[in-house]
Amino acid sequence: MNSVPAPDGAPAVLQTTGLARSFTQGETTIHVLRGVDLAVRPGEIVALLGPSGSGKSTLLQAVGLLEGGFSGSIRIAGTEAAKLDAAGRTALRRDRLGFVYQFHHLLPDFNAIENVVLPQLIQGAERAPAEERAAALLTALGVGHRLTHRPSALSGGEQQRVAVARALANRPALVLADEPTGNLDEATADRVLAEFLRLVRGEGSAALVATHNERLAARMDRVVRLHEGQLEGAA
Ligand SMILES: Nc1ncnc2c1ncn2[C@@H]1O[C@H](COP(=O)(O)OP(=O)(O)O)[C@@H](O)[C@H]1O
Ligand SMILES: [Mg+2]
Repeated sequence: MNSVPAPDGAPAVLQTTGLARSFTQGETTIHVLRGVDLAVRPGEIVALLGPSGSGKSTLLQAVGLLEGGFSGSIRIAGTEAAKLDAAGRTALRRDRLGFVYQFHHLLPDFNAIENVVLPQLIQGAERAPAEERAAALLTALGVGHRLTHRPSALSGGEQQRVAVARALANRPALVLADEPTGNLDEATADRVLAEFLRLVRGEGSAALVATHNERLAARMDRVVRLHEGQLEGAA
């Protein structure tokens, strides 16, 4: 199957077709995703809106190639994920995707700059330019004065800013963010989301951002809604 080109001819950074996922526990099977068709274009920021339990995290986990168990097609930057072995999926994740979670998931024994340097070193970068990029990203997010603080010495908003910098460190084509400000108070959430959107736009990455917050979703380029396992408003 060919990926659907965006209007300007560039291939979608993400294309799911008929994506389905069920969970069976005992004698009960719940069909969480029932055929999700979604295209995210280069540089586009899409809000994935739905109430708690609607399957937002399940969708992001499938697209993030973090677990199998789904059916249908997931193409990332033109590559069909189902055709890859574990090493291929790991490489695709490392080189094309960035992740931001509701809870920061930073490495507790490493300070802020090291948390942003490490993914670059794993990808093969030299230390000096990796540190330079990490410092630039953290400074752009307003935490340039917290480079040597460990996560436990940072506020919730600062932790999420470091997590955003880490997600962007390897210049991903697509950032997957699962309620990235869901753990913050409203004022901090607004500021962190604004900085996240500005940085993602500045870097030219695309993003798929799960949220149950209509107000936050309205600040993104496009909103798609998960309803009974399918998307409304998807292109
Ligand atoms: N590993 C799992 N095993 C069984 N059920 C699951 C699992 N993960 C998610 N679910 C179920 O899938 C539904 C959607 O969950 P989730 O994707 O976390 O929704 P959201 O992120 O929108 O709140 C829920 O009913 C949840 O209980
Ligand atoms: Mg969730």
